[in-house]
Amino acid sequence: MGNVVVVGSQWGDEGKGKIVDWLSERADVVVRFQGGHNAGHTLVIDGVSYKLSLLPSGVVRPGKLAIIGNGVVVDPHALVAEIERLGQQGVEVTPQNLRIAENATLILSLHRELDGLREDAASNSGTKIGTTRRGIGPAYEDKVGRRAIRMLDLANKETLPAKIDRLLTHHNALRRGLGQPEVSHETIFEELTAVSDMLVPFIEPVWRLLDQMKRKGKRILFEGAQGTLLDIDHGTYPFVTSSNTVAGQAAAGSGMGPGAVGYVLGITKAYTTRVGEGPFPTEQDNEVGQFLGEKGHEFGTVTGRQRRCGWFDAVLVRQAVAANGITGIALTKLDVLDGLDEIKVCIGYELDGKRIDYLPASQGAQARVVPVYETLEGWKDTTVGARHWGDLPAQAVKYVRQIEELIEAPVALLSTSPEREDTILVQDPFHD
Ligand code: GDP
Ligand code: IMO
Ligand code: MG
Repeated sequence: MGNVVVVGSQWGDEGKGKIVDWLSERADVVVRFQGGHNAGHTLVIDGVSYKLSLLPSGVVRPGKLAIIGNGVVVDPHALVAEIERLGQQGVEVTPQNLRIAENATLILSLHRELDGLREDAASNSGTKIGTTRRGIGPAYEDKVGRRAIRMLDLANKETLPAKIDRLLTHHNALRRGLGQPEVSHETIFEELTAVSDMLVPFIEPVWRLLDQMKRKGKRILFEGAQGTLLDIDHGTYPFVTSSNTVAGQAAAGSGMGPGAVGYVLGITKAYTTRVGEGPFPTEQDNEVGQFLGEKGHEFGTVTGRQRRCGWFDAVLVRQAVAANGITGIALTKLDVLDGLDEIKVCIGYELDGKRIDYLPASQGAQARVVPVYETLEGWKDTTVGARHWGDLPAQAVKYVRQIEELIEAPVALLSTSPEREDTILVQDPFHD
């Protein structure tokens, strides 16, 4: 019995939070390994909704250990706010149930500002990414540039000033170039020391803790954020996020070896959505898109932006199956398709008159591909809240089977509403 990694197989918002919450009953530890509070995960438990951004979705279950791994970028103020918000909902987050990697990178206010400044400037030239403006990209740039301030620096007020100076040498030069006022050393020092007492007790060498967990035979659930098409390498570059979102990152972003990754569960929406700019071959900017958006409540948890909607793209999901080594998928939001007369599925592309079965890496080609569709019969009966395979209408079963065949991976879980328990288990990822 191995560990399980959950990843998004499309452009994010596939329902990872719901599935991680459901699966975490079977796990001892839930680990985030990349991204930051650009993620927005909604869980619904007995009618009560919980919105998580930075905290692993397992945190709402008593007795589970939640871990923020080194691959995550942490906005300390956003984290404190999220912990307080959950506290008001009766979920206590303390160093007993949350540990944060000492070597995780921090997001500061200057990263958030830079993200916004760049997006505003790009809006005028038509090159914006449509980021969440949370400072994710600029914080990862500083990490790779070897000048980032990390969680452990909060615990050391003697060495912190030199690190702030080093960071500001870079950022103030950048800001001067953008015509922005410089940021003072004091501003950053105060920003960090305001939260350090609260956060230092959570800090830990997480790789060591996970090694101990592994030796004790504990079950580890890795929770990915975003999705494969937003991966910095494998996504629709440059319209991507700034981290690797694929399953391989679970090991590097938590400090465990690749052997720790057992079952890879790809969370897959029964249609496709995307927030922000970038290519989207099966987008339906028409009444179909409107139907999916309204019925699926496709509004971003983080920014409230309307998500773009379209048909299921089997080409992209099959690509995600390969890039992640997906063992099985959790198919979500099947219920949103209830009532459609017919449902289209993209089975290939045409590019400049030639048929292809993958999404090319070039931005130009990605904008030019034309989807080739197969049309399936819809169903009139409801699937909302179905908890048994036998409760599904025959046409819905046919749709699911067709997806399995096209993406070359089996359905392990099927989700039929936002509620935790409205989930059909086909194959248990922890007992594969
Ligand atoms: P994540 O970012 O992948 O965790 O997904 P989000 O939470 O951002 O978006 C998924 C949305 O769909 C949330 O509002 C969920 O409550 C909801 N959801 C999840 N699974 C289902 C499902 O099977 N059916 C319906 N109707 N909604 C679902
Ligand atoms: P979850 O975990 C959907 C998108 C943004 C933008 C691009 C870059 O909820 O699935 P960033 O702020 O990361 O630099 O933005 O990535 N994006 C997401 N889209 N779901 C997410 O997370 C996303 N996180 C980032 O909309 O297009
Ligand atoms: Mg989301």
